[in-house]
Amino acid sequence: MAEIRLKNLTKRWGDFVGVDDQSLDIADREFLVLLGPSGCGKTTTMRMIAGLEDPTEGEIWIGDRQVNDDLPKDRDVAMVFQNYGLYPHMTIFENIAYPLRVRGVERSLIKPRVEKAAEQVELTQFLSVA
Ligand SMILES: Nc1ncnc2c1ncn2[C@@H]1O[C@H](COP(=O)(O)OP(=O)(O)O)[C@@H](O)[C@H]1O
Ligand SMILES: [Mg+2]
Repeated sequence: MAEIRLKNLTKRWGDFVGVDDQSLDIADREFLVLLGPSGCGKTTTMRMIAGLEDPTEGEIWIGDRQVNDDLPKDRDVAMVFQNYGLYPHMTIFENIAYPLRVRGVERSLIKPRVEKAAEQVELTQFLSVA
């Protein structure tokens, strides 16, 4: 993990301001919750950190690197969406394994990592369920 630093991050669509001059330092390993009313800009802030949305202004730092221009795949950020994002034709094992496969993780390493992750969230008994 690494620290994340937002400096005066703003997102506008035309005249509409979705995120307004947001600055935030998140320490390495800190557990942080963004709490606020619907539409206040929580998801947009996270999408900008992940690289799914370009900021209109401001800087995003991950560790000692400014990542504004980095592609999502190069930021080493993972997101779990509030609406479901599973591949329904795959088993739970295959769903968990998928991002590792896409990254080219060696086959023999994938199984133990999937099993460990499943165990942590008590999904072991469902791994073969589609
Ligand atoms: N692609 C978009 N185009 C225009 N407005 C958007 C877009 N995405 C989000 N918004 C608006 O930006 C504001 C913040 O949205 P969002 O970050 O999803 O809020 P939250 O996650 O806090 O509920 C909302 O008013 C939303 O309608
Ligand atoms: Mg949201």
